[in-house]
Amino acid sequence: MAAIVSLLLLCVCSCFISVYNAQATISLVPALYIFGDSTVDGGNKLPSGTPYGIDLNTTAPIRWTNGETIADFVAIFLGLPLVPPYIDMSQAGISRMGVNYAFAGCGIMPQTGQNGWSLDGQIEKFNSTLRNNLTKMFSDPDLLQHLKHSIFLFSFGINDYIQLYLPKNSGTLTKLSPDAFAQFLQNELSVGLTTLYGWGARKFLVNNIWPLGCTPWYTNASDPLAICCNETINQLVRPYSNKLPVMLKELQSKLSGAVFSHSNDFEFVVDLKEHPTNYGNMRVLQLLLERKFLLLKLPPFSFHDFQSNILLFFIFFGVQG
Ligand SMILES: *[C@@H]1O[C@H](CO)[C@@H](O)[C@H](O)[C@H]1NC(C)=O
Ligand SMILES: *[C@@H]1O[C@H](CO)[C@@H](O)[C@H](O)[C@H]1NC(C)=O
Ligand SMILES: *[C@@H]1O[C@H](CO)[C@@H](O)[C@H](O)[C@H]1NC(C)=O
Ligand SMILES: *[C@@H]1O[C@H](CO)[C@@H](O)[C@H](O)[C@H]1NC(C)=O
Ligand SMILES: *[C@@H]1O[C@H](CO)[C@@H](O)[C@H](O)[C@H]1NC(C)=O
Repeated sequence: MAAIVSLLLLCVCSCFISVYNAQATISLVPALYIFGDSTVDGGNKLPSGTPYGIDLNTTAPIRWTNGETIADFVAIFLGLPLVPPYIDMSQAGISRMGVNYAFAGCGIMPQTGQNGWSLDGQIEKFNSTLRNNLTKMFSDPDLLQHLKHSIFLFSFGINDYIQLYLPKNSGTLTKLSPDAFAQFLQNELSVGLTTLYGWGARKFLVNNIWPLGCTPWYTNASDPLAICCNETINQLVRPYSNKLPVMLKELQSKLSGAVFSHSNDFEFVVDLKEHPTNYGNMRVLQLLLERKFLLLKLPPFSFHDFQSNILLFFIFFGVQG
């Protein structure tokens, strides 16, 4: 495991360095722009209550997890600070190292989430950053270089399933086959990615989605302490993860100069559940395994239990290999 991780990190690392060694900075890329849901929300919508933030050792806003999010670990890995949330315009309006547009509860489709923070809304907010803030900080050619070398991270999809597909009687979308719903979401996502490409973005890191049936919300309802997976749910969400690399590869062949990487959250969580000891001493997983998560009064809605410091080991699978 460790060997695979370092190999992949080395690959990611050398790819970034090779495109960015012209700039004498400590960070591997100039900036990280984050789009998504609670998996990467950095303070746009704040959670409250234990155990959120119990391991967050910074003054950054509390995330929907015990500590840092996947996006934070990506930032740290890239040598960047934790990027400010868009809602904090005093910081976001002057940030040269990225902005976080993610908002808990939001998804790819506009029907998800609240107040226009779904994919489209977040892209509009980036548009505002671009036109109202970044253009003031950079000359036109510098801005193009900035956008070209920055990472655009996307972590969406779970809420589309939770809100629009899995509930019974929740409208016409539930009548689509699992394949068709995954395709429907990914068509929408690819429109968003293409818009950002049109504005100069070139490096994209896109997640697939977790095996939702393994999260406490969907595990055995008659035995909430059982740590097992609902395979019915997992089979319904699986096509999203199977299709995503194909979609990204197609997009990459269409959009000249763009590079898409795919982070395989699905297999990661499956492996985590099957081989927890491979991942060392992980606080949240440990709590789960010790079945103490209910004692901590985690709301049943919280599938964030799976997010924890272990995500340092997050693995990127480059579309180009
Ligand atoms: C956060 O602080 C606690 C208590 O000081 C410490 O045990 C833990 O290792 C720290 N975590 C990180 C990620 O620095
Ligand atoms: C950034 O843009 C917003 C409008 O979206 C504006 O209110 C703010 O003053 C700008 N900040 C700076 C530093 O230009
Ligand atoms: C982006 O902002 C510009 C300038 O404010 C505006 O003309 C354009 O319609 C916006 N595009 C989108 C997709 O929001
Ligand atoms: C798994 O999910 C399906 C679909 O929501 C549900 O019908 C079934 O009861 C669940 N199984 C368990 C063990 O909770
Ligand atoms: C769910 O829990 C009940 C009660 O403990 C048990 O009888 C049943 O087999 C469990 N179902 C699954 C799918 O694990």
